[in-house]
Amino acid sequence: MKKYLVIGNPIEHSLSPQLHNYWFKKNNIDAIYDKEKLKIDDLENLILRIKEKKINGVNVTVPFKNEIISYMDELSFGSKNTMSINTIYFKNEKVIGHNTDIDGFKFAMNDIEFDLENKKILILGAGGVVPSIIFALNKMKVSKIILSNRTKNKAEKLVDMFKNITVVDWGEVPDFDMIINATSVGLNKNDVINLNFSKLERGKFFYDVIYSPKETNFLKNAKRLGHNTENGKKMFIYQAAAAFKLWHGFEPKIDNNILKLLD
Ligand code: ATR
Repeated sequence: MKKYLVIGNPIEHSLSPQLHNYWFKKNNIDAIYDKEKLKIDDLENLILRIKEKKINGVNVTVPFKNEIISYMDELSFGSKNTMSINTIYFKNEKVIGHNTDIDGFKFAMNDIEFDLENKKILILGAGGVVPSIIFALNKMKVSKIILSNRTKNKAEKLVDMFKNITVVDWGEVPDFDMIINATSVGLNKNDVINLNFSKLERGKFFYDVIYSPKETNFLKNAKRLGHNTENGKKMFIYQAAAAFKLWHGFEPKIDNNILKLLD
């Protein structure tokens, strides 16, 4: 039986096992997908387990998306350009790092039919998933990307990677067409982002990478102020489907059960 894993720290919240195990069952694949909470010192052994084929594929989540790069034999174009990996597979005796968060975000945007071309985007946060979102936004030809992070120098580090972004102080709310919450604020139901959105014109697009809880206070408040909202569920599903395709060679079906699994 093949074995797949999602690693991170914390990891309890991850719903990746539910998705992949559902697809295994649906497609009669003899495999199991588990989650493991690791420490940075465990990464070396993880790679060994991949090389020994004890593990056939790994998804990587916060805080290892960047740290794990040094263990790869080869990087996909997307992971090279974002210095971020969320999917690992072993092929031709090589450990290959891939980034399906990029397509996850892109397909989610296509699905909800939000045309990003020439739009002005404000991103909150500078953590694990932000380079992938910036890379995808650039591919979708947005006109401007503004970054705001509580710890400003972390946002400034991303300017080295993506020359076309602008960094503003945490607390500033410049005008935008779309705002993306990529911070971890909202993972707990009562979390509130301490920014003031009351001066914005109505009809902006508020996107939260968080999908559990389903509606963060960030989205709830935006709705109240007359904006359009969307959570990160589709992005999550599409990044998982893209990882599945890399490992098994075909696209899994995203049916209603999948959408319900995450509700
Ligand atoms: P990591 O930073 O380890 O990659 P992450 O979950 O991807 O983890 O990122 C957490 C993001 O949420 C960071 O941008 C973090 O800001 P800091 O860089 O200042 O830590 C942001 N964040 C977490 N708690 C926050 C809070 N209370 N207010 C604003 N931003 C917060």
